[in-house]
Amino acid sequence: MTQHTEPREVDYVAPLGAGADKTERYLELRRYVLALTDGEPDWLANLANVASAVYDHVPGLNWAGFYLMKGGELVLGPFQGRPACVRIASGRGVCGAAVAERRTQVVPDVQAFPGHIACDARSRSEIVVPVMVAGEVVAVLDLDSAQLANFDIEDRRALETIVNDIVGRVDWVAATRN
Ligand code: SME
Repeated sequence: MTQHTEPREVDYVAPLGAGADKTERYLELRRYVLALTDGEPDWLANLANVASAVYDHVPGLNWAGFYLMKGGELVLGPFQGRPACVRIASGRGVCGAAVAERRTQVVPDVQAFPGHIACDARSRSEIVVPVMVAGEVVAVLDLDSAQLANFDIEDRRALETIVNDIVGRVDWVAATRN
């Protein structure tokens, strides 16, 4: 196993100010996520920092984090926000739909989504991006907002890009061990 003796320090990157557009914000977030996970082999540290950077940089969130596929169900992983549902059965809720369909779910109004799991009563819209390794879903990245329709096609593309950036920087075998 690689030993990392050098301290890895990545300076805090604050979200861009109110004048910035979504494209600039996601470029900044993408760079930050790449810097935070660069050369770091610890899956928990990497997922925790990604959840934190996403929560900090994407406007309007009340929750952001990962669920990990363990033994056929989703189990809560690193996140930012209020405590959340721990286990989500396959096919249940927005997260379960992302797993079952193996594609990103953009839900502008969670109350109109059949089977939505209300972990946080403030949530009004949600986006869930599956993390795929060799055609299998190993995790999902879930973002919730208290605003209706907070996520669009640009959020989808940007978050899928960020997930793609980190997929090779996480030991998914260790992360999904029961
Ligand atoms: N609302 C999600 C459950 C997870 S929480 O939002 C953190 C769902 O329906 O899958």
